[in-house]
Amino acid sequence: MLFKLESVKLDRGGEPVLKVLSARLPDGISAVVGPSGSGKSTMLRLLNRLSDPESGSVHFRGTDTRELDPLQLRRQVALVPQLPALLPGTVLENLRFAAGFTGAEPDPGELLNLAGLEASFADRDVKRLSVGEQQRAMLARAMATQPEVLLLDEPTSALDERTRDSIERTVAGLRRQLGTSIVIVTHDPAQAQRLADWVVKVDRGRLVREGPTREVLA
Ligand SMILES: Nc1ncnc2c1ncn2[C@@H]1O[C@H](COP(=O)(O)OP(=O)(O)OP(=O)(O)O)[C@@H](O)[C@H]1O
Ligand SMILES: [Mg+2]
Repeated sequence: MLFKLESVKLDRGGEPVLKVLSARLPDGISAVVGPSGSGKSTMLRLLNRLSDPESGSVHFRGTDTRELDPLQLRRQVALVPQLPALLPGTVLENLRFAAGFTGAEPDPGELLNLAGLEASFADRDVKRLSVGEQQRAMLARAMATQPEVLLLDEPTSALDERTRDSIERTVAGLRRQLGTSIVIVTHDPAQAQRLADWVVKVDRGRLVREGPTREVLA
């Protein structure tokens, strides 16, 4: 199993956000679905130790994540957050910064193309990007580290249909060509249908259902 959450509890601002959440995420493409405020983003952040549970445990390929070095884990398991957060500078500087962690020399044209942006965006100051373009630059930056697992938090929420389709093709292609596992948070069941082999449905910080997409979204 890629990830296993067992009886995870997590409070935020004194309120319980995840309450005895247990869930499994296999290799492949998994979708996390559920209403706004149900704890999807909070759950995703547990997977690469951007937060740790107050009780319960998170296992990554059978190892308790608390035994793993957070920085090394985040190189293997990259998160693209719901709200874009690029570093000041150009898109290329952001790609180089991310790739620097792996020692790889990024091919900016290829990364941008995968994320649905023209190569000319490399020299663009991130202050001059739309939110949808920032989302795609964040995706390109996450791919620059060649992670084993990509965690995508609503990656197409600010995009039109055509760009969304192109991102979905990229996600499916990463799985097919590089064997990358992907966990995608989406509010759109149709997107989960199109992309995911496995669906985890949460509500109010608890698991509602998990299983193959066909069964859960039937
Ligand atoms: N920093 C914080 N401080 C206090 N409460 C928080 C904080 N972050 C999130 N919460 C609360 O935790 C709950 C779950 O938030 P989370 O962002 O995980 O939901 P979500 O399922 O991703 O929602 P959305 O679909 O709107 O993105 C919400 O009720 C939210 O108000
Ligand atoms: Mg969210």
